[in-house]
Amino acid sequence: MNVIFETDRLLFRTFTIEDAPLVFELNLDPDVIRYTGDPIKDIDHARKVLEQTILPQYALYNHGRWAVHTKPGLEFIGWCGLKTRPERNEIDLGYRFMKEAWGKGYATEAAFATIRYGFEKLGLKRIVGRAMPQNLASLRVLEKCGMDYVGEEIVDDHPARTYEAINPFIP
Ligand SMILES: CC(C)(COP(=O)(O)OP(=O)(O)OC[C@H]1O[C@@H](n2cnc3c(N)ncnc32)[C@H](O)[C@@H]1OP(=O)(O)O)[C@@H](O)C(=O)NCCC(=O)NCCS
Repeated sequence: MNVIFETDRLLFRTFTIEDAPLVFELNLDPDVIRYTGDPIKDIDHARKVLEQTILPQYALYNHGRWAVHTKPGLEFIGWCGLKTRPERNEIDLGYRFMKEAWGKGYATEAAFATIRYGFEKLGLKRIVGRAMPQNLASLRVLEKCGMDYVGEEIVDDHPARTYEAINPFIP
């Protein structure tokens, strides 16, 4: 297991191709993908998503979406992490958790630690967070981890509320 970092309750690791069943199971729940899209039709499709979208980010940018496990039992609860979007010249914070893990503060803990890792370890200048206006839980997570509201815009053909965090350690 390639561990990236840990928080009090969570462990972050890189995904591997072997995680296709977990990615499939996560995206199977319509409530989980209500505001994100991304239906995954079977495990083969999940393998393609890993191969083409998730895993290349690690090699290209030294960050990406990381699998998140609760400690100490290491139950997989979903993912959180950073994604470079070269077409927008942005690095975006994202998170997606199994419904059983919602409402326990995990997303806030994960998002906060991810921003911190991005600033302190990766030296990133700016991290963006975005959610649809109806995705109140996600907007709340962005606010609770200290990001600043920038405005509403259309991204990938959908209205989105954009937040940002600027690295205080870089002048
Ligand atoms: C968004 C998501 C990650 C939040 O996970 P979580 O672990 O429940 O988040 P937390 O427990 O850290 O905090 C959620 C906050 O939102 C609030 N919240 C949850 N549902 C809410 C709702 N329907 N309306 C308003 N606030 C809501 C909670 O009360 C909490 O705020 P509080 O601590 O001030 O009470 C989770 O719902 C999820 O995985 N959703 C599906 C994927 C997704 O939409 N990802 C984001 C895409 S932009």
